[in-house]
Amino acid sequence: MRILVTGGAGFIGSHLARRLVREDHEVTILDDFSSGRRDVIVHPSVSFVEGDVRDAEVVERIVGDMDFVFHLAAVVGVRRTLRQPWDTITTSTVGTVNVLRAVLRKGCGCVVASSSSMYGKNVHVPLAEEDDVVLGNTHLGAWTYSYAKAAEEVLCRAAWQDFDQPVKVVRLFNVVGPGQGEHLGMVLPRFVGQALRGEPLVVYGDGGQTRTFMDVEDAIEGILHVWRQGDWGAAYNVGGTEEVRIVDLAHRVVAQLASSSPVEMLPFQLAYGRDYEETMRRKPDLRRLRALGYRPRYTLDQMIRRLADDQKEGGL
Ligand SMILES: NC(=O)c1ccc[n+]([C@@H]2O[C@H](COP(=O)([O-])OP(=O)(O)OC[C@H]3O[C@@H](n4cnc5c(N)ncnc54)[C@H](O)[C@@H]3O)[C@@H](O)[C@H]2O)c1
Repeated sequence: MRILVTGGAGFIGSHLARRLVREDHEVTILDDFSSGRRDVIVHPSVSFVEGDVRDAEVVERIVGDMDFVFHLAAVVGVRRTLRQPWDTITTSTVGTVNVLRAVLRKGCGCVVASSSSMYGKNVHVPLAEEDDVVLGNTHLGAWTYSYAKAAEEVLCRAAWQDFDQPVKVVRLFNVVGPGQGEHLGMVLPRFVGQALRGEPLVVYGDGGQTRTFMDVEDAIEGILHVWRQGDWGAAYNVGGTEEVRIVDLAHRVVAQLASSSPVEMLPFQLAYGRDYEETMRRKPDLRRLRALGYRPRYTLDQMIRRLADDQKEGGL
């Protein structure tokens, strides 16, 4: 198939593109390189188009040649979304409208990447697909990304309902793995980098907040299971299994990597500014995904080692 991956120069998109070419698909990547890199993947079956998903003309032209679309382009990372609220919300809204319209005209299908962030402050454990979205005030920059991803999902559901559009959503939970630079600001790659350099591991808040990490290889498996077997119009949690407190994660990284780094605490307000609010728990209910035959492979300790090996080799 000829497959478009928007945001394919980024962390998850490049892993997806590599997997698709291994399965003999032709991949086109549409990316503005705002955080992704052109040299992230070099393969004769992969071509790059530099462009913005907010540019309807570009999206329309490229999708016209495609058999399927994976839509991953988004502004990602707490610091970037706090600093660039306009780009965050317009990439997810205008960009997703452009992709859905072009896909509808072409008559092909589409998988859209959403995020566990769309559940917002809901601390129900485990979070199931039907659970409530509990977002903070629109005036707080902390929630821009959550609103952006929730908007993508509402657009997908509306397109499915109003136009019978073949679209599915994957709600990704804290994906980690090789190629994920510290620049994206995700906590586990940052801890691993700090531990390898012998610097303090800086825990934001009191560290009691939890997350459930998933290796990017498992994330790709989950996305492909949804692509092949998932229901059109549905959303699927794609995440890991081991819920861990962030302070415990820091100590685990230090122990795993036999590092001499201390673990230090920093109030959220000092780390991210006054606009920040934290989500205290996050663990997915994976029953819907498991019903498609999906089984995660990587443990948290393996993820830590894979990140460390990648950073020692210089990453991507
Ligand atoms: N990494 C995670 O833990 C995680 C968790 C939940 C959801 N997601 C979702 O997965 C997707 C990929 O995230 P990632 O972690 O690979 O981040 P990433 O920043 O590495 O990838 C995003 C890519 O989109 C590109 N992009 C940004 N704005 C664009 C625009 N306007 N036009 C074209 N390209 C643009 C960037 O250059 C980058 O290559 C995103 O939709 C994100 O919301 C990621």
